[in-house]
Amino acid sequence: MHKVKNKDVFKASWTYHSAPESTGHVQIKKKYDLYIDGKFTKPVAGTYFDTINPSDHKKIASVAEATEKDIDKAVKAARSAFKSWSALTGRERGKYIFRIARLIQERAREFAVIESLDGGKPIRESRDIDIPLAANHFFYYAGWADKLSYAFPNRIAKPLGVVGQIIPWNFPLLMAAWKIAPALATGNTIVLKPAETTPLTALKLAEIIHESGLPKGVVNLVTGAGETGAAIVNHPDIDKIAFTGSTRVGKYILNATAGTPKKLTLELGGKGANIIFEDAAIDQAVEGIINAIFFNQGHVCCAGSRLFVQESVADLVIRKLKDRMKTLIVGDPLDKNTDIGAINSKKQLQTIENYINIGINEGGEIYQPDCTLPSKGNWCPPTLFLNVSQSHRIVQEEIFGPVLAVQTFRTIDEVIEKANNTPYGLSAGVWTDKGSKIFHLTQKLNAGVIWANTFNKFDATSPFGGYKESGFGREGGLHGLKPYVTFE
Ligand code: NAI
Ligand code: MG
Repeated sequence: MHKVKNKDVFKASWTYHSAPESTGHVQIKKKYDLYIDGKFTKPVAGTYFDTINPSDHKKIASVAEATEKDIDKAVKAARSAFKSWSALTGRERGKYIFRIARLIQERAREFAVIESLDGGKPIRESRDIDIPLAANHFFYYAGWADKLSYAFPNRIAKPLGVVGQIIPWNFPLLMAAWKIAPALATGNTIVLKPAETTPLTALKLAEIIHESGLPKGVVNLVTGAGETGAAIVNHPDIDKIAFTGSTRVGKYILNATAGTPKKLTLELGGKGANIIFEDAAIDQAVEGIINAIFFNQGHVCCAGSRLFVQESVADLVIRKLKDRMKTLIVGDPLDKNTDIGAINSKKQLQTIENYINIGINEGGEIYQPDCTLPSKGNWCPPTLFLNVSQSHRIVQEEIFGPVLAVQTFRTIDEVIEKANNTPYGLSAGVWTDKGSKIFHLTQKLNAGVIWANTFNKFDATSPFGGYKESGFGREGGLHGLKPYVTFE
C-alpha cells in the first residue's frame, strides 16, 4: 500500500460551537492537484480556483482546474488500466472496494467536517447521513463484485470501459460513492469530476483510494467547473457518461452525446409532491414535511417541495407546520444543533431569492419565521407559500432551496392529477394510515421514488432515479449495476 504524503497540510482547528467533545483537527491542504494515473498531478495549464466556505465566504483551499489536456491524460490512464482491472476476478475487485469503504468509516468524522465546511450542510446531516451512507454504498457494491452472475442470471455481463462521471454539490461524497462503487464493482475504470463549489471530500476520497492500493488509473479525479465537465462529455474515448445535476446541463449532455456511441444516464431535477391525507398521523406528517423540504437546505433533487394537504386538515397542518418552522435553527453548519445550514453558493442563493420574489409577485402568501441570520455567508430562512396554484412558477419549477409551496385538495383523483402535473417525475411522499391508498398512489404517481409515511430515506439497496425531465437510468441497489454493463 502507498502512503500519502501530507507535506502541504495545514492543521485547521475548526471549532464545533456546541460539540466540544468533537473539537479536533481536520487536515485540509492549502492546494489540491488532480489525481491522475495514481499520482497527484499539477494541471497542464497551471490554473487553480478557490473553494470557499459558504457560511463565511472565506477561502478554504486552492483546487486545480483541469482542461482538455488533463482530461485526455486521465482518460488515457483509465483506458490503460481498464484491461487489467476488468480482467481481475470480481472477488479481487470487491476487496479493493471494501477497503475503500473501511477507510471512509475510519475517517468519517474528518469527512463530515470537510463536507459541512465546503458545502454548508449541517454537521448532523454530514455525520449521520452523507458519510455513513457513502461508506455503505462501497460496502454494498463490494458485495456484488463477485456475484454479477447472480445479478444477471444466464447472461454474461461485461463492463463498458472508461466511464466519465460528473456530480453535483448537494451530496458531494455520497454522489461520488453512488457513481464510483457500482462502476468499480462491474469492472469499469473512471474519470470523475466533483462540482466546483464542493471538491474537497472527493479529493479526500482520492487520497483514500490511493491509500487503499487500488491500481493506478482505475479511478482518476479531475476538478474544475462546467468546461472541465464538457471536456469529459466530449472526449471521444469515453464509453459512458453518468451525470447528476441540473436539467439544463443534462440536456446539453444529451445533445453532445447524441450521434456518438456513448451510453448515458441522467439524474436531474425534481419537484416532489408530498401528500397528506386527513387520516394521516398529523404530528408525524408535520415532521415529515419539515424533513422533506428543509433537509440539506432543500438542495435535494427529490425534496418534497410541493405540499398537498387534504382540505379537512389543512388549517391544523399549516398551523403546526408554521409552529415547527419557528423552532428551526438556521446557522453555523458546524454547530450540531443547526437544522438549516448555509446555502451552497451565492449563485444558488440568488436563484432561491429570485424564486421567492416570483412567488410574491405571482400573488403567493409568504411565511417566514423570525430568525436571526448570521451576518456573513449565504443564508435563507425556512419559507412557505400559501395561496398558490398549479400555474404558479414556484409550483412548477425546481427552486432547490428551503421553499415550500402549499396547496390543498379534496379528492384522491384531484391530488393525483395535480401531483403529476409538472415536467418532473422523481419523488413523492404519501401520508395516510390506509395501506390501500398507498398502493393506489404508488400505481398512479409518476415518480421514480415514492415514500409512504416517511420522506428522504435513502439506502444503498434501493434504486433511485426519475421519469420525464428528472432523467433516466437508476442508481443504487441491483438496478444500479445495470447502467455499467453490456451483455455478450
Ligand atoms: P449544474 O448542472 O451546472 O452542475 C452539476 C455538475 O455539472 C457540476 O459538476 C458542474 O461543474 C457540471 N457541469 C456544468 N456545466 C457542464 C457542462 N456543460 N458539461 C458537463 N458538466 C457540466 O448545476 P448548478 O448550476 O450548480 O445548479 C443549478 C440548478 O440545477 C439547481 O438550482 C438545481 O435546480 C439543479 N441541480 C440539481 C441537482 C440534482 O441533484 N439533480 C444537483 C445540482 C443542481
Ligand atoms: Mg466550497
